[in-house]
Amino acid sequence: MRTRPLKVALLGCGVVGSEVARIMTTHAGDLAARIGAPVELAGVAVRRPSKVREGIDPALITTDATALVKRGDIDVVVEVIGGIEPARTLITTAFEHGASVVSANKALLAEDGATLYAAAERHGRDLYFEAAVAGAIPLIRPLRESLAGDKVNRVLGIVNGTTNFILDRMDTAGAGYSEALDEATALGYAEADPTADVEGFDAAAKAAILAGIAFHTRVGLDDVHREGITEVTSADLASAKRMGCTVKLLAICERAADGRSVTARVHPAMIPLSHPLASVREAYNAVFVEAEAAGQLMFYGPGAGGSPTASAVLGDLVAVCRNKLNEATGPGESAYTQLPVSPMGEVVTRYHISLDVADKPGVLAQVATVFAEHGVSIDTVRQKGRQDGNGEAALVVVTHRAPDAALSGTVEALRKLDTVRGVASIMRVEGE
Ligand code: NDP
Ligand code: HSE
Repeated sequence: MRTRPLKVALLGCGVVGSEVARIMTTHAGDLAARIGAPVELAGVAVRRPSKVREGIDPALITTDATALVKRGDIDVVVEVIGGIEPARTLITTAFEHGASVVSANKALLAEDGATLYAAAERHGRDLYFEAAVAGAIPLIRPLRESLAGDKVNRVLGIVNGTTNFILDRMDTAGAGYSEALDEATALGYAEADPTADVEGFDAAAKAAILAGIAFHTRVGLDDVHREGITEVTSADLASAKRMGCTVKLLAICERAADGRSVTARVHPAMIPLSHPLASVREAYNAVFVEAEAAGQLMFYGPGAGGSPTASAVLGDLVAVCRNKLNEATGPGESAYTQLPVSPMGEVVTRYHISLDVADKPGVLAQVATVFAEHGVSIDTVRQKGRQDGNGEAALVVVTHRAPDAALSGTVEALRKLDTVRGVASIMRVEGE
């Protein structure tokens, strides 16, 4: 075993960083044995230096992250600050000064992964980011390495712990949306700005990363169709239950049947209670990967939180340190297919539409005609007159599979009918 330690700079010491530091300290002996050299925490960059940080030598704390990554003796930079800047500049500076990088920063990887990959390659360093998608679950490495000889056609799953926690609490405990979000935040699951979670930006960033790696192409954040969970109501959850379904925020990345394009989307969807994703509770994540030769693989585990995420960071740290000792590097970007990303309008799926309509003869036929005119075939219809005697009925239509553009056209036309008083909700139905 080499006695000279590998030096690690930790950028950020919050929910994730503090756990990374704790595990590095408590498991130092095992990590050294597995790597073949000791790893030493050489510095910890934070924003608030006076904050008490248990188990961390105060002499290591600095607010000058740039000086830390420029020191020249740092072997690995672990970036767990989050956000675009200063994280991007710190990572590229780290490469310039000879360090490899482990990051948990999905927002940055989705926004500008190409710049990071290019900088890593230019300087012959590693860029590892297992923790950026689905917390503790090994998913990036299986896609980048284990499945590198197969052809992945679909990646579908729950990749945001916070929203899964909120939907689960609303569904099973009758909790309110805000109350559940507060609980997820207190447990360290939510992003610094939880809007990223509830509006679907975090899941969209993860979908972009997964689609890029799975299909060997570049998929940016703007390529991902995104809807969050802020519009999901307890009425939607009740309606799903009546259909034998539940509601989950899904990320779905697909290769087109002709293989010439891909799609990536994030939105709430109803899934049958019999589907394995329906039983994914709290902040757990689960992802199905469908590959030509392997068939269907399922990855499941804790998707957020300090300790699970630190596990993924530490796995990368060990891999990067081993590479360093072997004077090797792991896989870089693989985007050779250059497949275009098709718009959401071309995605084909099923829909659950709740309408408030006038409770009078002929309305159902009128509504059905609009669906037919747009080529959207109806599977089931449920109508119930309201008890308050206001002359309205709740109409729920579930369609067969149809292109998203056809459904949008249908809804637009429905809104123009005098007899349709409102479109209460539109939700896709997946997993059947
Ligand atoms: P936190 O907000 O808990 O921690 C952020 C840390 O970065 C804090 O220690 C903060 O310092 C420090 N920091 C902020 N700005 C600067 C700066 N300019 N210079 C130096 N340090 C700075 O975030 P998390 O630990 O939750 O998340 C970190 C990263 O991990 C993000 O990219 C996130 O998306 C990702 N991630 C998080 C998961 C989770 O479950 N929380 C799961 C998977 C990934 P100070 O302590 O002084 O405020
Ligand atoms: N905020 C993220 C989530 C953290 O809830 O999934 C894990 O990436």
